[in-house]
Amino acid sequence: TWTMGAFRERAIARIRAQVGTGRVICGLSGGVDSSVAAVLIHEAIGDQLTCVFVDHGLMRRAEADEVISLFRGHYNIPLVHVDASDLFLRELEGVEDPEAKRKTIGRLFIDVFEAEAKKVGGADFLAQGTLYPDVIESVSFAGGPSVTIKSHHNVGGLPDRMNMKLVEPLRDLFKDEVRALGRELGLPESFVGRHPFPGPGLAIRCPGAITREKLDILRQADAIYLEEIRYAGLYDVIWQAFAVLLPVRTVGVMGDGRTYDHVLALRAVTSVDGMTADFYPFDMAFLGRVATRIINEVKGVNRVVYDVTSKPPGTIEWE
Ligand code: XMP
Repeated sequence: TWTMGAFRERAIARIRAQVGTGRVICGLSGGVDSSVAAVLIHEAIGDQLTCVFVDHGLMRRAEADEVISLFRGHYNIPLVHVDASDLFLRELEGVEDPEAKRKTIGRLFIDVFEAEAKKVGGADFLAQGTLYPDVIESVSFAGGPSVTIKSHHNVGGLPDRMNMKLVEPLRDLFKDEVRALGRELGLPESFVGRHPFPGPGLAIRCPGAITREKLDILRQADAIYLEEIRYAGLYDVIWQAFAVLLPVRTVGVMGDGRTYDHVLALRAVTSVDGMTADFYPFDMAFLGRVATRIINEVKGVNRVVYDVTSKPPGTIEWE
């Protein structure tokens, strides 16, 4: 019979057989997938694994610190933390096109990762937390002809250039199975149950050119939205919820003054694997409460809207 415990044992045996005495390097994104892959591989080969966390400065609030303390503190897995946020923000300055943003982030990620890999003395294998839907979505979409909707920066690119073999122990799994494996490996529930977060991070939740200021506004609003979702007991019912800061300003009134500030969109969807999704039908009182809090607490936002688009025809992320 197929159990997660049995999968874990087989996966460990397979990793050991593939890697032998070689060295493995793993890029952590801060998300569940790469973290589960890293912990599993560490269990299989211990110190033959080096983890590199390229911090692009596009994470949610407190997220980078959580990853670092999980790896260094909880698991005692050696982790190289590279704070590359200045580089990413500089190169993304003025970049408006969604694919150009994704490509810029993907390219920088590879550059930084490659440089760090050299510093730690290189490796024979590259570990990735690629899931089954990543493999499918990068090939075709909804059964149609092969067309790239969005370039995922975590699939492909690196191995060719760095001349390394790939270790992808999660390639046959769906998201819910990766979470079950994470629990099996003892990852904290708060981490395993996290909503998915895209590799390019908040950059693709800020349509148009990003700035430090916009990212700060987005982080604050996103944190309030998620806090209210948790408080309402809805976090685990929802596949993914996040805020999007629009490059549009509208007129409002606060006290006895005129405001001219950003519009913030809220998104929440249910899904099984991210390939299709339905918008989440919050009740209006909940949405009203979130909107009031965000407008009162976050300087720079004076209007909040809710996205009622499902996938297809929308995608989950806005870019
Ligand atoms: P879309 O927006 O294509 O997203 O409907 C489907 C799922 O994939 C996530 N996503 C990404 N994940 N790297 C990732 O690791 C990426 O470049 C990326 N782009 C989108 C998205 O958050 C959703 O869960």
